[in-house]
Amino acid sequence: MSNQDNTDVNRVHIFDTTLRDGEQSPGISLNASEKIEIAQQLARLGVDVIEAGFPIASPGDFEAVERIAREVHGPTICALARAQAPDVDAAWNAIKDSERPRIHTFISTSDIHIEHQMRNTREDVLKGARASVAQAKAYCEDVEFSTMDATRSDVEFTAEVCAIAVEEGATVVNIPDTVGYTTPAEYTKFFEDLISFAPSLKDVRLSVHCHDDLGLAVANSYAGVLAGARQVECAINGIGERAGNCSLEEIAMLIKVREDVHGLHTGINTKELARTSRMVSRATGYVVQPNKAVVGKNAFAHESGIHQDGVLKERETFEIMDATEVGFDSNQLVLGKHSGRHALKDALEQMGFAVDGEALNQAFKRFKDVADKKKQVTALDLEAIVSDEMRERPQSHDLDWFEVQASSDSEPVAKVRVKLPEGEIAEGSSGGDGPVEAIFSAILDATGAAAELREYHVGAVTGGEDALGEVTVVLRADGRTASGQGVSTDIIEASGRAYVRALSNLLDGSAIAEAEEATADAVKEHTP
Ligand code: KIV
Ligand code: ZN
Repeated sequence: MSNQDNTDVNRVHIFDTTLRDGEQSPGISLNASEKIEIAQQLARLGVDVIEAGFPIASPGDFEAVERIAREVHGPTICALARAQAPDVDAAWNAIKDSERPRIHTFISTSDIHIEHQMRNTREDVLKGARASVAQAKAYCEDVEFSTMDATRSDVEFTAEVCAIAVEEGATVVNIPDTVGYTTPAEYTKFFEDLISFAPSLKDVRLSVHCHDDLGLAVANSYAGVLAGARQVECAINGIGERAGNCSLEEIAMLIKVREDVHGLHTGINTKELARTSRMVSRATGYVVQPNKAVVGKNAFAHESGIHQDGVLKERETFEIMDATEVGFDSNQLVLGKHSGRHALKDALEQMGFAVDGEALNQAFKRFKDVADKKKQVTALDLEAIVSDEMRERPQSHDLDWFEVQASSDSEPVAKVRVKLPEGEIAEGSSGGDGPVEAIFSAILDATGAAAELREYHVGAVTGGEDALGEVTVVLRADGRTASGQGVSTDIIEASGRAYVRALSNLLDGSAIAEAEEATADAVKEHTP
């Protein structure tokens, strides 16, 4: 059941673009099962619209959007299309099985894009907007139209283009700050002028889409909302092109916490914010900075004695939100070391993971491994274990076994066995300056691959000496970047798992890219 209500004028619709604009962040490349897992979580979070991808970009993008359209229920499922007939066809074909399909078509309105990127004329833009919205409308009742680079465009011309889109039946008109250039006051004025030049915009839902190049994405989105927009396009953890998009968790909490100022609300179940943020961070390899508003590890931590003292006396002295409101309280013990498969299944279901069959067996095996080594297995641990397991792919490389010998007077030596995508086992060994370097080199030795280590992060899933370690590795080869994560009580094992996954994603990505080069490169060059 959708939680959407089109008659409520104070309802701000949340349009999540984590899987489209967010997935365009450098180095992020999600496979179909990760996309489905994230889309299911976005549905639990209560977003109104999921922009699932850009189907014309590649067969892989098309299939992922199609699966989300078929498998994810509740939110509107939207696909992006340039204002070109093949794009609109592909978008429709990918989402047509959704309960609530939406085609999102866009064209640039700024002279700088018209002249240098599209190399055409304003006249072509007017024609393109009309034709693409009409084509989309013939397929689908719900059509969104965006004027790319709107905030650097002539407002009168933008209004003319928008009026055409409304005439052809667009239901949502989105005014992007594509390059993160505008300011809140300027954006407000842009909306006011736009509506005065094109009064028909009052009949459709207006939308904001702001990039964070000057750190103003949330502030600008909020300004647009106060100017009348009732849809915000945003992404979990603010991921997206360059500096990213408006962060979903920040705008959602801003709207909730300051309802006293604006009287607006969203349909977001804010208790799911922290978990969604962790899931997206794990799947993308984009670590959330500790001081990030709302979902950073320190967002509710107090260091100064004065603040701690104040919060102990009365939480509201130094806190404007309760950590439980954003789901930061999920660290209570849920299972003990003697818990069985049913208890695990129940606990996972309570956390929103429907795990069955082989996936449950695997999760149970990992749970037992961890429970043998840890005093307590918390909800956060379980979440990390399950997302670690879900990331296993049948057709990928896997760390099958490893051994590292290290002593204070000799160089550490690692031996590994890596399961290759076809199922055979490759063996490798290597020394290194430290045990982590040794296991990484041994994995390269086993696979015969070459890659440069770009990033290596180690974190703890919870506090305590026996905490699960979580490692993120980012690798680069042949101009491509890919990340992988691994979770274990043993940091060397977590590192090895993360490295093998990053390598697998890299090799997988290269294979897909080679196969799809002709379409993907031509299209991505023109992607916003
Ligand atoms: O930034 C942008 O302009 C976009 C559009 C496709 C909405 O991502
Ligand atoms: Zn964008």
